[in-house]
Amino acid sequence: MMGMKKMRFLFEVLVPALLTGMLASMAEGRTHYYDFVLKETNFTRLCSTKSMTTVNDSFPGPVIRIHRGDLVYVNVHNQDDFGVTIHWHGVKQTRNPWSDGPDHITQCRIQPGTNFTYKVIFGEDQEGTLWWHAHSDWTRATVHGAIVILPTQGTTYPFPKPDGEHLLVLASWFAGDFNEEYEEYLSNQTGTSFDDIAFTINGEPGDLVACGGETTHRWLVDYGKTYLLRIVNVVVNSELFFAISEHNLTIVGTDGTYTKPRVTSYIMIAPGQTMDVLITTNQSLGHYYMAARQFVTFDPSITGFNNMTATAILQYRGNYPPPDVPSFPINLPLFHDLDSGLGFLSLLRSLATPEHPVNVPLNITTRMFVTASINKVNYTFEGTEVSHFAASLNNITFMDPTSSILLAYYRHTSGVYTTDFPDYPPSYYNFTGDTYPPPMSVLATKVKVLNYNESVEIVVQWTNLLGQGADHPLHLHGYTFYVVGMGRGNFNNETDPKGYNLVDPPERNTITVPKNGWVALRFLANNPGVWLWHCHFDRHLIWGMDTAFIVKNGETPETSILPPPAYMPSCAVQSLIRLEDFQDSVELFNEINVN
Ligand code: C2O
Ligand code: CU
Repeated sequence: MMGMKKMRFLFEVLVPALLTGMLASMAEGRTHYYDFVLKETNFTRLCSTKSMTTVNDSFPGPVIRIHRGDLVYVNVHNQDDFGVTIHWHGVKQTRNPWSDGPDHITQCRIQPGTNFTYKVIFGEDQEGTLWWHAHSDWTRATVHGAIVILPTQGTTYPFPKPDGEHLLVLASWFAGDFNEEYEEYLSNQTGTSFDDIAFTINGEPGDLVACGGETTHRWLVDYGKTYLLRIVNVVVNSELFFAISEHNLTIVGTDGTYTKPRVTSYIMIAPGQTMDVLITTNQSLGHYYMAARQFVTFDPSITGFNNMTATAILQYRGNYPPPDVPSFPINLPLFHDLDSGLGFLSLLRSLATPEHPVNVPLNITTRMFVTASINKVNYTFEGTEVSHFAASLNNITFMDPTSSILLAYYRHTSGVYTTDFPDYPPSYYNFTGDTYPPPMSVLATKVKVLNYNESVEIVVQWTNLLGQGADHPLHLHGYTFYVVGMGRGNFNNETDPKGYNLVDPPERNTITVPKNGWVALRFLANNPGVWLWHCHFDRHLIWGMDTAFIVKNGETPETSILPPPAYMPSCAVQSLIRLEDFQDSVELFNEINVN
């Protein structure tokens, strides 16, 4: 179905591009064009109506549905009153950081009343489920949607072809005007908390919340079939448990890669992650709850968290008396069940077949040991020493620059960032212990430079600094990486590497650094560009738990960054109503404190 607007757009604006695109890509796959119109729309949930920013008036937003090998262009028209960027989460964007999206890292914001066309280039091997979301402020809370990558035309799944498929997007619901509350929160980080009050499944919180019920998401299935269910966690600050009453889940894919089939009664899914599972409808005809609730890894004494369980209904077609209430999944773990949460992670293995091979780097040329911490940062403001809540990697609290790192790198502009992101933390201590050094970090815009084709290993160590640690789901742009090891306590560089899985480790774009533990990642730096690496809890991201990798060009044009598009949004225009970044919030915080 093509609306008039889209038709006009195609014929008047994109015909030349379309023709060139078709000629160039005929051999590989199709080219798809989408229009994303970003504006405010009214939604009613939990008994109240509010206006929020969405794409094409939908929550969750539109699905991008393609085959492996296809190319996608998305023209984002910003009709809201603040600047935004969009990121294609998990999409490798091979040689094309220009369209990756993170604010101040690869571009500046698409200003109100303007538009920007993203060219979304998938990695050749990417197949399964990914997603897209806004990557400026916390706008992704309402601006997000799924990306489905079907097998290349003429090929099929590495499992019997499912009888049908379904998509579930798990998201956050915030009370009140999101933008106002967000600014309020930024301006007073040490005081107010800003949390979602419910979770949603395909936009609906379900039966167990006030005014829920009538609009609860229902998935109608036939008896005796096998369905492929694609699950995306787009929640802002929480990992989730998810289960379906009476039905096992067979995991077959994560983050746009295939896994060995694994049967489980529940999953734990971090924000940024996707999971493809098969379910067989072999239970008695009836209604079954699909439910999601938070996996809480911060201190259990903190009771003020979003404890709402989101529900949707798996409903068998057929003639039977409907039950009074659907049955609830007894296997859904409770909030603080660390064993179920972290235990689940050890279940996953790459598929590792000739059609879907693994390529784990074996001869490591760059090693990093990175601590992920919640801490405080001190700085001097008008002669006064102030301290502020922060987060850090190797004690560096990342400060967004005022222009784009990619542009500065491409144009050799100095003064925007420095290349001295440390490979090691400044000191070693009992990272998971109850006593620790002063929990202070340094505010700076430091990035890590990698040569083309460097074989990288990063061990990320969780720390208990400030006694404030929760899990950190770390996401790397532009790549997938292999999770070769994971463990509890402090990483031991003699004994722990002996247990690495170099045969079929899971391949992810987002992995949880477990509370009280560590995780080891490997990847081959074969995608030149500027790639953000960050905690996918937005609270920790704005507190500075991020850095960027600059992967240098190889020696040929084919191993170098593509030239920039003719137009990139200007970095000179500052956003009208939003705080730009951590530093602005720091400044505002200071103003408030000083005045
Ligand atoms: Cu899902 Cu940097 O993002
Ligand atoms: Cu974090």
